[in-house]
Amino acid sequence: MKFAQFLIKNAAMANVPKQIERFCKYSPSPLSMKQFLDFGSSNACEKTSFVFLRQELPVRLANIMKEIDFLPDKLLSTPSLQLLTSWYAQSFMEILQFQEKDPEDRKVLSDFSEVLINIRNRHNNVVPTMAQGVIEYKEAFGVDPVTNQNVQYFLDRFYMSRISTRMLMNQHTLIFHGSTNPAHPKHIGSIDPNCDVVEVVKDAYESSKMLCDQYYLTSPEVEIKQVNAKAPGQALRMVYVPSHLYHMLFELFKNAMRAAVEMHESSSVVPPVKVRVSLGNEDLTIQMSDRGGGVPLRKIDRLFSYMYSTAPSPVMDNSRNAPLAGFGYGLPISRLYAKYFQGDLQLYSMEGYGTSAVIYLKALSSDSVERLPVFNKSAWRHYQMSSEADDWCIPSSEPKKLGNAAALCDLIILNGKH
Ligand SMILES: Nc1ncnc2c1ncn2[C@@H]1O[C@H](COP(=O)(O)OP(=O)(O)OP(=O)(O)O)[C@@H](O)[C@H]1O
Ligand SMILES: [Mg+2]
Repeated sequence: MKFAQFLIKNAAMANVPKQIERFCKYSPSPLSMKQFLDFGSSNACEKTSFVFLRQELPVRLANIMKEIDFLPDKLLSTPSLQLLTSWYAQSFMEILQFQEKDPEDRKVLSDFSEVLINIRNRHNNVVPTMAQGVIEYKEAFGVDPVTNQNVQYFLDRFYMSRISTRMLMNQHTLIFHGSTNPAHPKHIGSIDPNCDVVEVVKDAYESSKMLCDQYYLTSPEVEIKQVNAKAPGQALRMVYVPSHLYHMLFELFKNAMRAAVEMHESSSVVPPVKVRVSLGNEDLTIQMSDRGGGVPLRKIDRLFSYMYSTAPSPVMDNSRNAPLAGFGYGLPISRLYAKYFQGDLQLYSMEGYGTSAVIYLKALSSDSVERLPVFNKSAWRHYQMSSEADDWCIPSSEPKKLGNAAALCDLIILNGKH
C-alpha cells in the first residue's frame, strides 16, 4: 500500500468510534416480509433501496459494534477477534463513504453494489472466526457461568445482526445487480413467495443423507407427513427464504441422523427420521423426530450454548468433507434463523428413546417481521450482570453431611411428633 493511501485509511479508521457513537443512537428499522417483497416488485427502485441501506446498514452495524466492546478483554484480544473487529470497522467505513453521494448518479449505485458484494465476501468467515476466538478463550481461561451467559447473550445478538445485514445486502445486490436466476424466475432476491416447504425438507434430507452415508456407510430413511388445515390436500406453501429454511432443516437432519445411527450401531436397521409439517392459521410447524436415544433435560439448554459442544473442534481447513458435527453451532444458529422472522426452534427429548426438534414459523407474511437486536439501556444492563447468588436453593452435592439434623427432622415428621 502506498504511504498516502495508508494515511488516508488510518485517518478513516481513527474516525470509527465517533461514527459508531453517531449511528448507534438510531434504532434499527425491522422490515416485514411484505416490505422485502415490495422492494423487489416490478416498481422496485434502486435509488430508494440505496438511500435506505446507506443509513440502515451503518445503524445495524453500529448497534452491534457497540456491544462487541462489552466482551471480556481476554476474548477481545485474541487474534481471531482482532481480525473480526477490523472487518467490521472497515465495512462500516466503506458504507459511510456513500452518505453524501448522489443517488441519481448511476456510477454511485453500481459502486455501492460492488462495495456490498465485497463486504459480504469479507464477512464470509465471521462465524468460524468468532468460534475460533471462543475456543482459544475457553482453552486458556475455561468457562465460568457469568462469561458463558454474557457470551451467549452477545453471540445470539451478534449472529442475528449478521443474518439481518446479509439479508439486506443480498436482497439489494440480487434484485438490482444479480443476473436473473433461470431456475427460480419468481424468486424476489432470496425470497420465494411460494416456498414449497416439503420440497425443502426433501432437499435437506438428501444432502444430509449423503454426508451420513459417507461417514457411517448407512443412514436412516425419512417419513414425511403433511397437514394443511387451511387447504386440505394442497402443498404447504409460504413466503419465506428457502436458504434459511434449508439451513435449519439440514442442521436438524444431521443431528437426527448422527444420533439415530450411533444409537443403532449394532443393529442392522436404523429407525427412520419422521417429519411432520403442519400449516395452521398462525403457525407453520415442522416437527422432526428421531430415535437416537435423546438427551437428558439437564443438558438441553447447553445444546444451544456457543461455549459447549459434544463434538471435537473441527480443524479449520478447507477439506472437502463437511463434518456431520462441527463447532456445535448447528442448533443455536438454526434457532436464530427461525427467530429472525418471529419463529422459534425448540428441542423436546426423551432420554433413552429419542428427540423431537420443532421449527415454528409464522404462516402469514404479515407476521414475518425481522427480529433485530438494539443497543439500549436494557442491553447495557445485561453486560453489567455479575455473579450473584441464585434465588433458588441449590441442592447440596453432599447430602450426607447434612446428616443428623435432616435425619432428625425426617424422624420427627414420620413419628408425627412436631
Ligand atoms: N437429535 C439429537 N439427538 C441426540 N443428541 C442431539 C440431537 N441434536 C443435537 N444433539 C446433541 O446436541 C449437540 C449440539 O448440536 P449442534 O447441532 O448444535 O452441534 P454439533 O452437531 O455438535 O455440531 P455442528 O455445529 O456441526 O452442528 C450435539 O453434539 C449432540 O450431542
Ligand atoms: Mg449439528
